[in-house]
Amino acid sequence: MTFKNLPRHIAVIMDGNGRWAKKRNLDRIYGHIEGIKSLKSVVEGVIEYKIKYLTVYAFSSENWQRPENEVDSLMELLDEYIELELPYLIKNKIRLNFIGDIGRLPDKSKTAVSKAAEKTKNGGELTLTLALSYGSKEEILNAVSKIAEDVKKGAIEFTDINDKLFSSYLYTAGTPDPDLLIRTSGELRLSNFMLYQTAYAELYFTKTLWPDFRKKNLIAALKNYEKRIRRFGKT
Ligand code: FPP
Repeated sequence: MTFKNLPRHIAVIMDGNGRWAKKRNLDRIYGHIEGIKSLKSVVEGVIEYKIKYLTVYAFSSENWQRPENEVDSLMELLDEYIELELPYLIKNKIRLNFIGDIGRLPDKSKTAVSKAAEKTKNGGELTLTLALSYGSKEEILNAVSKIAEDVKKGAIEFTDINDKLFSSYLYTAGTPDPDLLIRTSGELRLSNFMLYQTAYAELYFTKTLWPDFRKKNLIAALKNYEKRIRRFGKT
């Protein structure tokens, strides 16, 4: 399969794990376990098409309000994913990156996250960013307060504030904005994910639940993206 134009950065809201499990009378955690298989399949596809950035919403700041056993299981899955995937990530030159309020993670996960970031930092083929304890409004407010602080200190002038400077205060500093945002499971909203960064992203919604979303579904999304005409507000 070849494409005339491909996104440089894909962002994904991996939704529908709970419903996938419920349909099979399984505990929600099995949906998340199957969801990891989807993530691996999508990563393979992204590498095959030489897409340079993939950012996935793995845990939102609101997800802390889920039952304790689900939160604990998700954190364990995260640790396990990192440990098991690290050799593959290194071998395929994938840089594992993290955005969100990482300080809120359990100590074990914090250690796993920083170790993985360090060990994969030279990966130049793909930057795979996991959004963990991530909320876009928080990210924006955090940027605003740091900018205010820097203006007060005299480190920057308030006339310096523009898109480029603002972006450099976000968790995603240094990463280009997503060109394509995929949300699975039929929900039609952004749920506090990359609100600033997706200003001009093409949106792709599919009813497929995340655990069923594999490389072939990614290809369908890429085919759809190929047909979009991006004007960025121009004629
Ligand atoms: C949304 O489904 C999904 C999540 C809250 C977690 C996404 C996590 C994974 C795909 C696996 C974990 C990945 C890593 C790397 C740790 P939902 O539970 O909200 O589904 P529902 O809307 O059907 O209830």
